[in-house]
Amino acid sequence: MPSLRLAPAAPAPNLPVIDLEAGESKTVGRGRQADVVVDDPGLSRLHARLSIDDTGQLAIDDLGSTNGIFVNGTEQLSAYLVPGDTVRFGRVEYVVSFADAPGVSDAPVVSQTILRRVSMSQAPKVDRLALEALLATSREMMAFQDLPALLDRVLDRLATIVKPDRAAILLVDSETGAMIPRAVRPAGAYSSVSEFASSTVVREALNARDTFIVHDIRMDPRLQQAASVMLAGVRSVICVPLLGRSGPIGALYADKLGVEQFAPELAEYASAFAGHAAAALETAQLYDDRERHFRATLEAFAKAIDARDRYTAGHSERVTAYSMLLARHSGQYADAFETIRRAAMLHDIGKVGVPDRVLLKEGSLDPHERALMQAHVTIGHGMLEPLPFLGASLPAVRGHHERWDGMGYPDRLAGVDIHPHARLMSVADSYDAMTSGRPYRGALPAKEAARRLRIDRGKQFDPEMVDLFDALEQEFAALYQEPDAAAMRAELLRSVG
Ligand SMILES: [Fe+2]
Repeated sequence: MPSLRLAPAAPAPNLPVIDLEAGESKTVGRGRQADVVVDDPGLSRLHARLSIDDTGQLAIDDLGSTNGIFVNGTEQLSAYLVPGDTVRFGRVEYVVSFADAPGVSDAPVVSQTILRRVSMSQAPKVDRLALEALLATSREMMAFQDLPALLDRVLDRLATIVKPDRAAILLVDSETGAMIPRAVRPAGAYSSVSEFASSTVVREALNARDTFIVHDIRMDPRLQQAASVMLAGVRSVICVPLLGRSGPIGALYADKLGVEQFAPELAEYASAFAGHAAAALETAQLYDDRERHFRATLEAFAKAIDARDRYTAGHSERVTAYSMLLARHSGQYADAFETIRRAAMLHDIGKVGVPDRVLLKEGSLDPHERALMQAHVTIGHGMLEPLPFLGASLPAVRGHHERWDGMGYPDRLAGVDIHPHARLMSVADSYDAMTSGRPYRGALPAKEAARRLRIDRGKQFDPEMVDLFDALEQEFAALYQEPDAAAMRAELLRSVG
């Protein structure tokens, strides 16, 4: 049975350290009759009694003191204490710990006491600032636009109150069950759960579905063995599970390095905050999943359209790969890869509205038929317009048949009035049209297609886009001809959103 110690929270040479063995009882006070004399005017002569029963349970009782006893910031007449608790007599604050730490070997006791549960049912004590942060967060969550931005916001709000050195939101991957850090403060502080000081705490918080606070990590031998703890100098940890309707969906994690510890009421605040955050996160995740499924459906639809026209089978996918090649190489579209990818994948989706007799006609089109065929860009735009997650992709869907000289369709835009994604996709689309067979001609060799693109530089195509293509001509030619280009194609086609 480990003995317990109450040591001054701040270094104070004139304050005694109080050690207690099982079965022992000591009075604390300012007067000489007390077993432990604490020479501070805030204490009564006989202020409190500390006692450990035979099971190792430490209790404190107020002996009628003037200024009372505060356990973890709350005034108590009597209370049970566990390591990590703080006790204030008058102005003097003590912290409870194991007397013989760190050589503690009594693991069961450690696991029950160091990872002290803060019950969710305890009314959270949040001050005005904390409450304002909480309300602001809930308003933001109602109006959230995207999950990563929302998660960053949650951490920033938490940081204003809890003031951790490091914090993260971990989300459970619904497929693998792995914990993935989705937002981290400071940014880049860690990229995997294994880098966290206490994945033990995260696991225990999730299993117990309750908040855990480790006041002083030095008291827990299991955590001391983690190399990351020693390297990072972690002192104190709060971990709150984020509970969705069907179970834990993630965790809110915060730690302090160096000498500072989290005050107990901060764990309660974090709990209140997390309950709020979890509901919003679950909604956001559902929204995310729904969007992903919906997008996959649209892409399957686009492929079905390609398949309907035997001459353009695989066209959408090839245009996507070529567009991504251009976008990656230009260096100007780093923020728009996913937008361009979606636009390229869906650029001809409006062909669903073009009659088969026109779409599949083997001869040349008459003016009426040509108008029906050209309508695929406005039909596609109209189909995708109601979908908020495709909004940024619409200009390229609508504009991929515009021409630099203003002779294209549907809006006869010219030059830089044409959206840059549409100008880029126009090169990719035309290159694939030329290098694929058509009813009225065979496939052109890659070199001939490249030559024709250059001839139309500044006429059909944006000169800058043709220059970009020039630098990539070999890659374009290789992408669907070299047998070992499959990995490169897969990489270009992979969704990032
Ligand atoms: Fe098209």
